[in-house]
Amino acid sequence: MQDANRGVVVDFHFEGRRYSARAGQSVAAALFAEGVRGLRESPREQQPRGMFCLMGSCQECLVMVDGRRVLACQTEVSEGLSVSRVAEVGLHD
Ligand code: FES
Repeated sequence: MQDANRGVVVDFHFEGRRYSARAGQSVAAALFAEGVRGLRESPREQQPRGMFCLMGSCQECLVMVDGRRVLACQTEVSEGLSVSRVAEVGLHD
């Protein structure tokens, strides 16, 4: 039987809390596997939003990594990565 190549285990942070994942997983998949569903809030209703399309189209998984807005489904998790929620601005800001 062939060994699955699952990547090494890495630790990363989301909102200051430590999580573990396999290197190469997307941030969205890693957080989902850890039970995190809400990645941000909708600007109008302040409702939790999370991953939806997983292919970079819907923008629902927008998060901050190293001061940049990135899509969690298109960003690979790595050791020490610090991820946080996007501070939503008003619709006319
Ligand atoms: S889940 Fe749709 S862009 Fe990431």
